Amino acid sequence: MRHTPPPRTYRVKSFGCQMNVYDGERMAELLAEQGISPAPEGEEADLVVLNTCHIREKAAEKVYSDIGRLRREDGTAPLIAVAGCVAQAEGEEIMARAPSVSMVVGPQAYHRLPAMIADAVEGRRVVDTDMPAETKFDMLPARRKVGPSAFLTVQEGCDKFCTYCVVPYTRGAEVSRPFNDLVTEAHRLVEAGAREITLLGQNVNAWRDESNRGLEKLIEVLAAIPELARIRYTTSHPNDMTEGLIEAHRDVEKLMPFLHLPVQAGNDRVLKAMNRSHTVDSYLRILDRVRAARPDIALSGDFIVGFPGESDAEFEDTLKLVEQVGYAQCFSFKYSPRPGTPAATMDGQVPAAVMDERLQRLQGALNASQLAFNRHSVGTRCSVLVERQGKYPGQWLGKSPWLQSVHFTADAAIGDLVEVELVEAGANSLSGRLVQ
Ligand code: SAH
Ligand code: SF4
Ligand code: F3S
Repeated sequence: MRHTPPPRTYRVKSFGCQMNVYDGERMAELLAEQGISPAPEGEEADLVVLNTCHIREKAAEKVYSDIGRLRREDGTAPLIAVAGCVAQAEGEEIMARAPSVSMVVGPQAYHRLPAMIADAVEGRRVVDTDMPAETKFDMLPARRKVGPSAFLTVQEGCDKFCTYCVVPYTRGAEVSRPFNDLVTEAHRLVEAGAREITLLGQNVNAWRDESNRGLEKLIEVLAAIPELARIRYTTSHPNDMTEGLIEAHRDVEKLMPFLHLPVQAGNDRVLKAMNRSHTVDSYLRILDRVRAARPDIALSGDFIVGFPGESDAEFEDTLKLVEQVGYAQCFSFKYSPRPGTPAATMDGQVPAAVMDERLQRLQGALNASQLAFNRHSVGTRCSVLVERQGKYPGQWLGKSPWLQSVHFTADAAIGDLVEVELVEAGANSLSGRLVQ
């Protein structure tokens, strides 16, 4: 490797889940602290961090084309760091396949980026996929400037080992951040401009503090921060949905009426093969309790179609479940075999054409459900947190309490919390009218 001048500008590109977005922001803050500035729009950066996702094959393969695209006409490239879950899973392979990459850093080691950059500048390529005992959170600079809706990682990692999933391998075991650190970071986020905080974790509702208090306690304490208007959390696992957390949906006004609770499939045999350790019925009973606590709650989930061995009839059970629940929004995916996971070598891998057809039918049902939910909101008044400007002059975009995208035209500013009446609904957004 060649020597390069120390980078003066950076760009961080994050893919995958919200936790990667959070990590991407924290890496950016870390680079800024080193005196490296964000590259201006449209200009090439001296240092590019690709913060990658390994969840499905398409996401994981994308990193190689992204690396290729960074090559300049004269054959050189900026300093490239590959971070995130592909880095963790395929560290050495990336180094072998992509000679222009000089740094590979896993999700638990990115606080070491400054030292890695120093190596890279000297022409040394470095892979760091340790899961060190020291936590990155203690090494990162404090939060400075954030948008009105901010993320806060409270829990990381997963011990559930669903048979299709790479996350337990890429993010490591479940670890909860300490209570006081989180309260401090939440205060910093609010001082930096946040009016809404979304607590993040791969299994966020598995968060426990040092004295075994659950997420509802953290939510209760954060709700007492006066300038913080809204609290959300994601992603939850059905088995960690405690009574205390369900009651928080009844008792804490700032906790938004939205629950993302992935179920993956609507058939018990498939759930068992996935190692989900809940049944369709136990999942539905949780939803009943949540709805009893907060009747207007919007429900969301994730689905996988074409898990190995899934029959037509078993897939139909997923459609029935969707019909029964009435989701406000959902994510759905074709099963993607991931190296090293038990499901990848199971019998009965489902042909691509069958998966395509199932996904299309499922997405049709989910879109209909989402549209019905949105139409049902028309005529109601709600708060909207303004997140950005719309396409047209004077138009603003924000989120309702139920996480619907709402646009409206009025005098407003980013970060405002306004009261609107919802007047028209599409599948993906609603239009609102400002209430004086
Ligand atoms: N921790 C969260 C999110 C995990 S990843 C949870 O347990 O819900 C987000 C979603 O990606 C999963 O919920 C699942 O629906 C999907 N997913 C994970 N692995 C997959 C795979 N191998 N193929 C297709 N979809 C997958
Ligand atoms: Fe993956 Fe299952 Fe863990 Fe979610 S609970 S991150 S799907 S292993
Ligand atoms: Fe992807 Fe890693 Fe998130 S695999 S979904 S970036 S935890």
